[in-house]
Amino acid sequence: MHKKIIIGNWKMNPLTLKEAEKLFNDAAKGVSAVKKTEIVICPPFLYLEKLESSNRRIKKISLGAQDAFWGDTGAYTGEVSAEMLYNIGVRYVILGHSEKRAMPVRQSLDIGGGETNGIVNKKMKSSLAAGLRPILCIGESARDANHGYFNLIKMQLEECLAGISKNSISKIIIAYEPIWAISSTPGRQDATSDDSREMSIFIRKILSDKFGPSAARMRIIYGGSANEKDAEDFLKNGGVDGLLSGRASLNAKKFSEIIKIAEKTG
Ligand code: PGA
Repeated sequence: MHKKIIIGNWKMNPLTLKEAEKLFNDAAKGVSAVKKTEIVICPPFLYLEKLESSNRRIKKISLGAQDAFWGDTGAYTGEVSAEMLYNIGVRYVILGHSEKRAMPVRQSLDIGGGETNGIVNKKMKSSLAAGLRPILCIGESARDANHGYFNLIKMQLEECLAGISKNSISKIIIAYEPIWAISSTPGRQDATSDDSREMSIFIRKILSDKFGPSAARMRIIYGGSANEKDAEDFLKNGGVDGLLSGRASLNAKKFSEIIKIAEKTG
């Protein structure tokens, strides 16, 4: 069994560094007794370095970025590379989040938001090369009666993981995030632990077809309005090794509650 991992995706929050420090420190205090569970917080780029330096004393929480560009340096206005992030102490990176995949841009340029699986694949490779652990987000926007969404998940996995060697796959975390369950989706619906378990089995099968037995080393986690009330159900019955939490991670009490639940079920 894998070590449980709880990841907080702060998205574009909070508004000030002061608030970010408070949220981070409160979360760190709330989990001071946690031993077995891995904890990752992914704040906006701007706060990473400051939070990493205050975290050096605590070392309980790993820092993750919400994106990373490929390459190390170059003429890519507005981008931040995986290597730059690694150099300031960041160790994880969320890639292919549905909110980044949805942003409208000129996809033919293969840069910026509006990410295709091809862009995510480039970022996966450069992040791994820089020493970051990618949290690869996949998920369907809706479920159709013919189960076509399974094909979409398969395609996302195959295209985002294309050309990645077996040696590095244990560093990759697959986050299944059905878009219809994410808190910011209008008219969202709750996903159940059954939905999560079924998809986790499907993902596991694709990974083992692709990578063979070493695919067992990869962790699969669930995200989509995960909170302190349903965390236990997802972790016990959802076939996953952890949770990626957005909105609930902006509340230190709720976030540490989720981590304590993971610690108990781990
Ligand atoms: P949510 O966000 O927990 O607010 O639904 C999860 C995510 O989008 O990563």
